[in-house]
Amino acid sequence: MQAELDRLRAQLAERDCEAQRRELQLRASYEATVRALADAVEARDAYTARHAERVAAYGLELARVCGMDASADPDLEFGFLLHDIGKIAISDAILYKPGRLTDDERDAMRRHPVIGEEIVRGIDFLAGARQVVRSHHERWDGAGYPDGLAGEQIPFAARVFAVADTFDALTSDRPYRAASSFREARRVIAAASGTQFDPTVADAFDDIPDARFDAIRCTLA
Ligand SMILES: [Fe+2]
Repeated sequence: MQAELDRLRAQLAERDCEAQRRELQLRASYEATVRALADAVEARDAYTARHAERVAAYGLELARVCGMDASADPDLEFGFLLHDIGKIAISDAILYKPGRLTDDERDAMRRHPVIGEEIVRGIDFLAGARQVVRSHHERWDGAGYPDGLAGEQIPFAARVFAVADTFDALTSDRPYRAASSFREARRVIAAASGTQFDPTVADAFDDIPDARFDAIRCTLA
């Protein structure tokens, strides 16, 4: 009797291990798929090299400082990585236009969050990424797009992402300007606290030391 119980116990433990192994494998293949999709978006734009990975790393750090438990929401990183996936559907003529966009072109460009959400909508394992994809250009004061959400109507992950995105954009070189210093980027973000950004998130961002951002950049250089 005891031997039979031991045998069943060992069998259950083995099945548990196997299920965990399969889940890890599945998670790894999801991650590889998401990174491939994010790379596909960036391959079109030489000037944003590794932007998605950097902004995802900044975003996860900021989410952690804001008290979000990223392990309880593993899809958070997917949303950060895929935020601009809708740009796949925007024409090169608009995406790379060197001058000012016409009103129609700007409207077309502003459709990318909605197109992006439509792309990820049908994929079960990206359900948690949808909010960031759709709402990453909303503003705290309601003047953003595509839905004109304001304040806490904007999903928290999208509010976190917006700060991380601006920080990376400001501190990266562009063909028409050099990168800003961290200090200057902090100043710009603080100045937009309460208008573009959630003040709580902007404050939390300012608590992250430069060394932490440097460390993230080094690992992704
Ligand atoms: Fe975007």
